[in-house]
Amino acid sequence: MNYILTLSKSLALNAYKQINFLIAGARGSGKTYGALILIAELASFPRLNKNQLLGTGQLPTQIYCVDFKNSDIARLAEFLPAGRVATNKNEAIKVVEEYDRKMHQRLDFIKTQKFGSTAGTLGMPMYYLWVDEWSATNASFNQGNTKADKDLRYKWSSLITDISMLNRVPGFGLGIISQQISVIGSGLSTSVQEEAGIKLHYGDANMSSYRLTFGNDIQIPEMRLETGEAYAWIEGLTSSGYVIPLAMPEIEPDRLWKCLKTALSNQDDDKYLFMTTKQ
Ligand SMILES: Nc1ncnc2c1ncn2[C@@H]1O[C@H](COP(=O)(O)OP(=O)(O)OP(=O)(O)O)[C@@H](O)[C@H]1O
Ligand SMILES: [Mg+2]
Repeated sequence: MNYILTLSKSLALNAYKQINFLIAGARGSGKTYGALILIAELASFPRLNKNQLLGTGQLPTQIYCVDFKNSDIARLAEFLPAGRVATNKNEAIKVVEEYDRKMHQRLDFIKTQKFGSTAGTLGMPMYYLWVDEWSATNASFNQGNTKADKDLRYKWSSLITDISMLNRVPGFGLGIISQQISVIGSGLSTSVQEEAGIKLHYGDANMSSYRLTFGNDIQIPEMRLETGEAYAWIEGLTSSGYVIPLAMPEIEPDRLWKCLKTALSNQDDDKYLFMTTKQ
């Protein structure tokens, strides 16, 4: 109940279980907008009424962002504590180092609790790191050959790998948004791909581009998707068979911004890291 995320009227999932998101789609297909809707839901957990975008906010997911395009996601800096949003390489390393450090602090804390405890069983708020325009971000880290460039490159890839491998128990999610999310060509490591619990592909595309996202073993219906509509692959639900078509709620920008402001009113660097609501 605590971590239920609604992707569309008929599709809900447990963000704690399907923790890592990969979001693909062409320019203007609704990836970023969709992510902002998810952020509003996450940051106001738990959502007692799934027909309402915002929940009660007692378990507010703490949000961290990397957005080199400095677009809609980066504007969340307005509502977030300092140091949560990065728009260039140096900032990105700082933000992600902090995220990784907090993840390890929480892991250490969980080890002091009853055997078998997780952030989920302890009822702890989740954390999410969103990276918009993943391919461009990664390409930017791959540029340059000075010692400093190499240093940043190494840090970036080891931090992301560390998070993707250890993040389930502490409830530290990764949301990766990119026009292309296949392993080849997107700079996405296989560990990140394999740890993805949800893959979404937004908007109209040709079959080969859906195939790059979902692989060859999954059936894709012949439909034409509009902006804000997506196909979903969800771990456990669509491991074989068909991807699930979904439509994000239609929300006009002013209303979404107001919802985000309310949803992000419970962001705090210290308060939530060790907070438990269950034994
Ligand atoms: N669920 C929605 N409700 C209302 N409007 C939407 C929705 N999804 C997308 N839109 C509209 O479509 C526009 C483009 O969406 P968005 O910026 O999310 O695309 P994108 O896939 O991130 O594109 P880019 O690759 O250029 O970053 C938005 O600015 C918004 O006007
Ligand atoms: Mg975008």
